[in-house]
Amino acid sequence: MNKETKIYIAGHRGMVGSAIWRTLEAKGYSNLLGRTSQELDLKDQIAVRSFFTEEQPEVVIDAAARVGGILANNEYPYQFLMENMQIQNNLIDAAMIQNVDKFIFLGSSCIYPKLAPQPLKEEYLLTDSLEPTNEWYAIAKITGVKACQAIRKQFGKDFVSLMPTNLYGTHDNFDLKTSHVLPAMIRKFHEAKQNGEPVELWGSGTPMREFLFVDDMAESVIFALENKLPEHLYNVGTGEDLTIRELAETIQKVVGHTGELIWDSSKPDGTPRKLMDISKMHDLGWKHKIDLQEGIKKTYAWFLENIENVKEVKI
Ligand SMILES: NC(=O)c1ccc[n+]([C@@H]2O[C@H](COP(=O)([O-])OP(=O)(O)OC[C@H]3O[C@@H](n4cnc5c(N)ncnc54)[C@H](OP(=O)(O)O)[C@@H]3O)[C@@H](O)[C@H]2O)c1
Repeated sequence: MNKETKIYIAGHRGMVGSAIWRTLEAKGYSNLLGRTSQELDLKDQIAVRSFFTEEQPEVVIDAAARVGGILANNEYPYQFLMENMQIQNNLIDAAMIQNVDKFIFLGSSCIYPKLAPQPLKEEYLLTDSLEPTNEWYAIAKITGVKACQAIRKQFGKDFVSLMPTNLYGTHDNFDLKTSHVLPAMIRKFHEAKQNGEPVELWGSGTPMREFLFVDDMAESVIFALENKLPEHLYNVGTGEDLTIRELAETIQKVVGHTGELIWDSSKPDGTPRKLMDISKMHDLGWKHKIDLQEGIKKTYAWFLENIENVKEVKI
């Protein structure tokens, strides 16, 4: 691996992919390769194979996926299962055939069972049932983890999976129908501030969640790129969580909304707690740098600068 190594970042325009691209560029990596979904539909196996034959990437980072929050997962189970499997299968298989040196697969903390002990350890994978609202997405991601593990086991190749906790940051999706909780709250508080209205949020506010700023996630990918990690699966997070209520209050403060905050407890809460055990990454020497308050400030500043054309992901 050197600064001229040809690195293909699948999903390089997404929140995570673009952060990985920026971080690699800032570190002097000069041979980066990216294609938009219009240029290369990763669901198309033939197109993916010929792209790999033509471009011969030496390293592949898979940050391409059909991504969304509870609502989108629940309403579009087929897309979340099938598109994610198609995208990752085509990438993993083409990388195998082309004999790439390294493949980094990004999954999600939802691969772990709904009622697994907290904090979530890597070995809890496949020990119990999944959270039903996002099992489609989770099952697709689990098959990706297993494909990389099988390649590692059978062929001794450096295919590794990183499971990030909830991510947020610049280039996030702020569409209220398809976004995750943190960007959705930023948008809600911002609009309520503009209109002098209260903010109504789903649930009781008591579930606990962990959030990692996307630039820290990118740093973990570069860590996995520059080091040969000894195992096939690693959690990536801060190792710290807070209640959804505390999150809402932090965002309210950063945005400067002074109106009322109403909790609609007739709406579902989801999993009571979701915290990653990140001791394996810590033991290897990786740790996040940006705390939640600072990350939310950076994200809100970016949202304000890009308010005219923030991403709104439609299915
Ligand atoms: N966001 C989170 O909180 C979170 C948490 C844990 C894990 N992750 C994981 O991180 C990875 C990236 O997530 P993200 O938040 O960056 O998502 P994102 O912003 O929605 O970006 C996903 C990217 O995937 C590309 N893509 C989707 N379908 C494609 C297709 N058929 N062909 C080619 N490209 C396609 C899109 O490319 P175009 O822009 O060109 O259309 C897009 O840039 C995913 O694997 C996700 O599971 C995210």
